[in-house]
Amino acid sequence: MSALTELCRQMASCHACGLAQQRTQVVPGEGADSAEVVFIGEAPGYNEDRLGRPFVGPAGAFLDELLALVGMSRQDVYIANVVKCRPPANRDPLPGEILACKPWLDRQLEMIGPKVVVTLGRFSLARFVPNESISKVHGKPRHVGDLICFPMYHPAAALHQGSLRKTLEEDMQRLPDVLKELKGAAEQGDRDNGGQQLALF
Ligand code: URA
Ligand code: SF4
Repeated sequence: MSALTELCRQMASCHACGLAQQRTQVVPGEGADSAEVVFIGEAPGYNEDRLGRPFVGPAGAFLDELLALVGMSRQDVYIANVVKCRPPANRDPLPGEILACKPWLDRQLEMIGPKVVVTLGRFSLARFVPNESISKVHGKPRHVGDLICFPMYHPAAALHQGSLRKTLEEDMQRLPDVLKELKGAAEQGDRDNGGQQLALF
């Protein structure tokens, strides 16, 4: 069993916050164990809680479409959430719940070691870049520690507000360039043994 699978197994019996009371099951996340790109949503909804898998409802269908736009599928990336258990009636996760769940996501990211974290929605953005408004920073990659954080709107937002669909599609289409730029910088760095400054925000 991989260390990541073992971590997800441990997560399944977590009772570190009140969300443990009403969930059907924990939704740890899934995808490639050493994915270059990790997508991080907010919290499981109704469908995710029933199936134990992230993004399997309507927002997930749109996320699949967005991945397909750039020639990717779920198996190429890792998909997880800030909070691993469904908040009752899909309410926003509370600060205490986000904090209680933080060590799980921290461990996942440590184990996967992605280059890019795509934050989906404002709770996920706040986890990496506090006090920024998503309307200002979406689609603009930035360094956060060793990672590139690439903020996007939450796919569910486009289901309520149709105009955001195009924005999400446009932002997603920038992802291959971010990865390409990272690879170019790494190769350049190898050649001249000095770090190449990325054209990031
Ligand atoms: N919305 C999320 O933020 N995460 C899911 O897993 C599903 C919907
Ligand atoms: Fe544990 Fe996170 Fe579920 Fe709370 S939301 S019970 S911290 S796994």
